[in-house]
Amino acid sequence: MMVLSADKLDGLALRGLGAAGFTVVQCQGLAPGNLPVQAATAEILIVRSTLVPKEILPQLPALKLILRAGAGTDTIDVAAAAARGIQVSNTPGRNADAVAEMALGLLLAADRRIAEGTWALRQGKWAKGALGQGMGLKGRSLGLVGFGAVGSAMARKAQGLEMKVIAWSRSLTPESARDAGVAYAANLDELARASDAISLHVASNGETRNLIGASFFANLKPGALFVNTSRGEVVDRTALLDAIRSRALRAGLDVFAGEPKVPEAPFADVELAALAVCTPHLGASTDQAAEAVAREAVRIAVEFRETGMAPNAVTV
Ligand code: MLT
Repeated sequence: MMVLSADKLDGLALRGLGAAGFTVVQCQGLAPGNLPVQAATAEILIVRSTLVPKEILPQLPALKLILRAGAGTDTIDVAAAAARGIQVSNTPGRNADAVAEMALGLLLAADRRIAEGTWALRQGKWAKGALGQGMGLKGRSLGLVGFGAVGSAMARKAQGLEMKVIAWSRSLTPESARDAGVAYAANLDELARASDAISLHVASNGETRNLIGASFFANLKPGALFVNTSRGEVVDRTALLDAIRSRALRAGLDVFAGEPKVPEAPFADVELAALAVCTPHLGASTDQAAEAVAREAVRIAVEFRETGMAPNAVTV
């Protein structure tokens, strides 16, 4: 079975797919005029950041499965794929610890001004006075928006720092929160009011676009910490900029609305980046996550070939 990979595939996945008898063809992106000839017979497409819009699907006439090597599937037109009988599948949870580690890193960096301190020193400036002091995390309340694999990994790590964790998600109940050892917030306003710091862990879809806006920020304490490792589209950018400027919100951002979908590219939103500690969507970029995702991708491809049904099927 032919597999087309539109992003650089981890060596473990390449070897695993090869050992399982798949033929893997690597290409850079999915530009219509730039597909390798083998794309015409590819039955599985593996992507990481590359967008899969509906326009590309007719160029892949044999395609039966789009496999996202990661959790989010907002880069794939799942409805258009379904309309053509193409399954979509992902590797949820496999990079959860890596993303939570990044969220924790941004939380600490935003509180302790680690990036600004580095920048100042590189400029030859000793900015101990100007960079002020952090709030300190021990005993502070961390509000989690979303409580899936990444949110719960973040809860465990924050509890290791002796933070109090409060969570809200569409499916969380007081009972399931109690079982998970976190406090329950009935809605986002309640979560914002109770939190010293916020970390976002929801998928990006129609329901979560601009979920975090002006009213959420207005409910946060001035000087609160705010971390986003989920998707930029979940946050109203104007409201975020306003909260940073007018309420001294300290933001740590790994994701941006409309961010590039290729490894190296110019970045447009320098206005926001100048006001936050940030990284270019590196949350899942660890050796451990790459290995776990690679193993899961091989498992999915093998099971799909054997049964015709992809595990972790994503629906519209
Ligand atoms: C995910 O969707 O799994 C994470 O955001 C990481 C990534 O996109 O690579």
